[in-house]
Amino acid sequence: MEENKMANTILVGAQWGDEGKGKIIDVLTESADIVVRTQGGNNAGHTVYVGPQKYVLHLIPSGILRSGKKCVIGNGVVVDPVNLVGEIDGLIKSGIKVAGNLFISETAHVVFPYHRELDAQRELLKGKNKIGTTKRGIGPAYGDKAARVGLRMIDLINAESFGEKLRQRIKENNEVLRAFGAKPISFKEVYAAYREAGDRLRPFVTNTVLLLHEAMERGEEILFEGAQGTYLDIDHGTYPYVTSSNTTSGGACTGSGVPPNRMDHVVGVLKAYTTRVGEGPLPSENAEISDLLHGMGREFGATTGRARRCGWFDAVATRNAVIINGIDALAITNIDGLDTVPVIKVCIGYRIGKQNVNHVPNDIEQFARCEPVYAEFPGWLCDTTKARSWKALPPKCRSYLKAVSELTGAKIAIASVGPGRDQTIFI
Ligand code: GDP
Ligand code: IMO
Ligand code: MG
Repeated sequence: MEENKMANTILVGAQWGDEGKGKIIDVLTESADIVVRTQGGNNAGHTVYVGPQKYVLHLIPSGILRSGKKCVIGNGVVVDPVNLVGEIDGLIKSGIKVAGNLFISETAHVVFPYHRELDAQRELLKGKNKIGTTKRGIGPAYGDKAARVGLRMIDLINAESFGEKLRQRIKENNEVLRAFGAKPISFKEVYAAYREAGDRLRPFVTNTVLLLHEAMERGEEILFEGAQGTYLDIDHGTYPYVTSSNTTSGGACTGSGVPPNRMDHVVGVLKAYTTRVGEGPLPSENAEISDLLHGMGREFGATTGRARRCGWFDAVATRNAVIINGIDALAITNIDGLDTVPVIKVCIGYRIGKQNVNHVPNDIEQFARCEPVYAEFPGWLCDTTKARSWKALPPKCRSYLKAVSELTGAKIAIASVGPGRDQTIFI
């Protein structure tokens, strides 16, 4: 991929989320016209540095930080409107122009306090089998959508009918909350807060499917900002330790109304190692690399602040992610995280007892029993953060990255050696 020539591109996380999607989106936005979020909600935390200024975007596409770019929250996203207003205000305070650049789908579903409360209660009930959710109400909100009882942005902004619809939803959900032994939700409080948020958001709410198709007619290029990662996908992830949306590339189509034949590229973002936050199997999890990264102050969650679990790069899982998403270009981030590691391991297969396993088993208990089989690579043991070209990377680093590309079956398009915009190498 060339830096300044881009057609419609879907960007997905190729691992368990937090791959550095925000940074790569920000870099790619320079040559796009529109950035669209198509799934997930404010469970996402996408970090972008503009110079020394750090931004963490949860619902608003990371493209908002580049002036004049349009940003769309698509129909597939679940929106917590009160949080979204907070995010908008935070950006405005930092001098970012939001009005006129942000568009929210009329049909995106709304997250309510009862969703968050149910999320927390279900986790409590699960005890040691909890998913480790972000407690943002994402699962219950998508549950309501699938059960056809959810309220959408179009309902929120309709001042005449919203109150009655909300009253019905709170009535039902309070019955459920009571059964959990939890405190019921006050209609009055929620109504007041959501009416206010609805009034603030009304100017942003529109038919985003039409907006995107009209933009494509004008030849504008769209970047689809995936949230979470392939192994958190509701269908293809390590179910039930997943989120509640399709985080893989297909979700970009259903979550935006842009059909598959209008998509040109799929960029898979991955770390040079592996991280996961929350519960569920992670065969290449490793205390040595975890301690090293945490000791450097890295790998703490952008949304919840939780320490991320860390491990070696898992080529089996990522190869499968390349296939499922149709990834044709890799963006490898956090290469500098391995700068001080003398021997770098890569998981190239699994073993269950004496049996070799060369794919990700769908049986979660089997996957949990998988022991990694490692190949070892010599570390480069020098600072990569100042490299600005492929040639400037140490030869051992280039060999490692080439191995990642060969093992996963996709070309490297971008190598990232730091959180900054300039710490990006186009290949
Ligand atoms: P996202 O959810 O995929 O957008 O990723 P997060 O923002 O949750 O986490 C990725 C973290 O890695 C953030 O703190 C980024 O600033 C940081 N980051 C991204 N790329 C690089 C890189 O190449 N090197 C370093 N040191 N940090 C990076
Ligand atoms: P970004 O977009 C990493 C994880 C949670 C939990 C599981 C379910 O920043 O990569 P949920 O609240 O969605 O019901 O939690 O999914 N999770 C993420 N992990 N990055 C994310 O987003 C995540 N969003 C959800 O930790 O394991
Ligand atoms: Mg994140």
